[in-house]
Amino acid sequence: MLQHRFFQKTLLGGIAPLLLSGMLITQVTPASASDHGHHKAHAKFNQAGELVRPANFREWVFIGAPVTPKDMNNGKPAFPEFHYAYIDPASWAHWKKTGEFREGAIIAKELVSVGSKSAASGSGYFPGDYGGPVAVSVKDSKRFAKSNNWGYFVFGDDKAQSAAADESCAGCHKTNAAQDMVFTQYWAPLRAASPKK
Ligand code: HEC
Repeated sequence: MLQHRFFQKTLLGGIAPLLLSGMLITQVTPASASDHGHHKAHAKFNQAGELVRPANFREWVFIGAPVTPKDMNNGKPAFPEFHYAYIDPASWAHWKKTGEFREGAIIAKELVSVGSKSAASGSGYFPGDYGGPVAVSVKDSKRFAKSNNWGYFVFGDDKAQSAAADESCAGCHKTNAAQDMVFTQYWAPLRAASPKK
C-alpha cells in the first residue's frame, strides 16, 4: 500500500510537468517554426545591397549534381567539378503546386571535387569534398528587373559572408536555361515534381 501510494505520487509528479511542457511545446512550435530559416528561407540583403550568405542551404531540397570534371575540360572547367544544387523549401513547395519559381526563390550551388575515378561499383566520377565557391541565384523582380528578375552571386569561400551581384552571370542563363533563367533541363527532381509536365 505504501509502495502503491509512492508510485502514484511519483508518477503524477513525474507526468504532470511532462504534460505541461508538452502543451507548452505544442503551443510554441508554430511560432518558432515560422521564424526558422528552414521553412521561410528568404534572401537577406545587407545595407550595401549585398546578399547575405544563406544559412543551412545544405539542408534544403536537393535538385541535382551535374559534373564538369577537370579531365574533360582541359583541366579548367568554369565550375569544377560536381555542382550540388539546392532550392529553399518554400520555393520547392511553390514549385510543386505551380511549376513556377516564386518571387524570392533561392537556389544555391556548391562545388564538390572529384575524389576518385574508381569505386567498388566501377569506373566513374565519385565525389570528394566540398571546397570552392558557392554560387547563388535569387529571384527578385524589383532588384533584378534588368536581368530577367534573377540576381547572381558567388561566395568565394567559407569566410565570405556577403556577396555583391555579379552582372556577368545572367547572359548565359538567359540564352541557355530551359525555364525562367533556371537550367531545369538538368534538374530531374524539379521536372519530376512539376505539375506542368
Ligand atoms: C557559360 C554559361 C554560364 C555562366 C556564365 C554562368 N552559369 Fe550558372 N549555370 C550554367 C549551367 C549550364 C548550369 C546548370 C548545369 C550546371 O550546374 O553545370 C548553371 C546553374 C546555375 C545555378 C543553379 C540554378 C540554375 O539556374 O540552374 C546557379 C545558382 C548558378 N548557375 C549561378 C551562376 C552564377 C552565380 C554565375 C556567375 C558567376 C553563373 N551561374 C554563370 C551556366 C552558366
